[in-house]
Amino acid sequence: MAHHADPPQPATFRAAPALSGTAAIPGDKSISHRSLMLSALAVGESRVEGLLEGEDVLATAAAMQAMGAHIARDDTGAWRISGVGVGGLLQPATALDMGNSGTSTRLLMGLLSSHALTATFIGDASLSKRPMGRVIDPLSLMGAEFTASPGGRLPLTLRGICPAVPIEYRLPVASAQVKSAILLAGLNAPGITRVIEPIPTRDHSERMLRGFGADLTVETQVDGARIISLTGEAELSPRHIIVPGDPSSAAFPVVAALLAPGSKVTVTNVGLNPTRAGLFDLLRDMGGSIEVTNARDVGGEPVGDLVVTASTLRGVEPDPARAPSMIDEYPVAFIAAAMAQGRSIFRGLEELRVKESDRIATMATGLRLIGAQVEELEDGLIIDGTGGDPLPGGGPIATKLDHRIAMSFAIAGLVSRNGVEIDDMRPVATSFPGFIGLLRGLGAVA
Ligand code: S3P
Repeated sequence: MAHHADPPQPATFRAAPALSGTAAIPGDKSISHRSLMLSALAVGESRVEGLLEGEDVLATAAAMQAMGAHIARDDTGAWRISGVGVGGLLQPATALDMGNSGTSTRLLMGLLSSHALTATFIGDASLSKRPMGRVIDPLSLMGAEFTASPGGRLPLTLRGICPAVPIEYRLPVASAQVKSAILLAGLNAPGITRVIEPIPTRDHSERMLRGFGADLTVETQVDGARIISLTGEAELSPRHIIVPGDPSSAAFPVVAALLAPGSKVTVTNVGLNPTRAGLFDLLRDMGGSIEVTNARDVGGEPVGDLVVTASTLRGVEPDPARAPSMIDEYPVAFIAAAMAQGRSIFRGLEELRVKESDRIATMATGLRLIGAQVEELEDGLIIDGTGGDPLPGGGPIATKLDHRIAMSFAIAGLVSRNGVEIDDMRPVATSFPGFIGLLRGLGAVA
């Protein structure tokens, strides 16, 4: 992760004219991680097109390589991965540097738990504050052992076990990372591993495990809970994967186009899996004009183009049950609320406190700095919008190594009176290389 050594990159984003044109967003981060991990476990060569070449995904690629997979980018820009087979990962020679990536860390902790090897996970200052107990608990029930830093944090050392014990586990927190960690551990455990999720979370792991040939079933109960059952000691066959564009990255140009008066923007190739598309539903509920065209299926995931027209937004009080389908989009949703008519009340969002930064506190502080009306609650924010007027602006915003904080306030800058200053744009490289170029392409003064 080269950027750790580089100096901070401050930037100021100023009022943009109406945005127009077409934007192509990079590949989905969640799907990119999973495509590398499962390809590395298949027997034979997989090909992945549209992989997100951001630092988080490259951390996963480096880890899979350190454990025996061959991974290379070919001259068409596709990635070719030769896998080692389920159970075939090798002990890494050095610590696995996960950079800023919670997804790499938690999913790989699962994967390695059912291999007889020892691995140490390290990460940057942000990742080293994030709780790993939520995966340590179920993976310990499967027989893995962990020596973690205080509070169940990184650096930590994992001792995996083979054979691991298949478990049935009810998720105490709605987390696709915890679900996926258990399923990935279950791949190399004898018998059936079962995860029960009372509130559905993103289902990319389930879709892709099936696609690679794993025996996985999903049953939905009357109360909406999902029971996911995976038969272990699976054999995975190589695949050709096309990664759709990331809805979490599309969120930024979509909100910018809604807020900057007179804008009309098309964002192409956006993943619209219902477990991910909650922000677009919320923005429509607020009065935003977002049309889907060219709806299609790409590699087992629903995809479409979004045509976004500047709109006057109204405040909302979203149902917390929606949270998993837009969990990474709250920072930019708060920016939209700050310019809406009336009050928005966001609650039930305690998970935001353990993301790349404490996103409730970081957003509350930043919003106040740029002149928005905001009250911080333990589990959310109350925001009184400007009714469409530009936000005053200001800064500098402390991004706290959090890419989505940096990008959210960049969008706020485009619709501010005096510009928004951001202390450091480096974190954007974790998920959205080309972010600034994309804004420029839409006519934003970035
Ligand atoms: C992810 C799941 C979510 C999300 C993260 C990616 C995944 O985390 O915030 O950016 O790829 O499974 P949680 O599982 O902690 O909700």
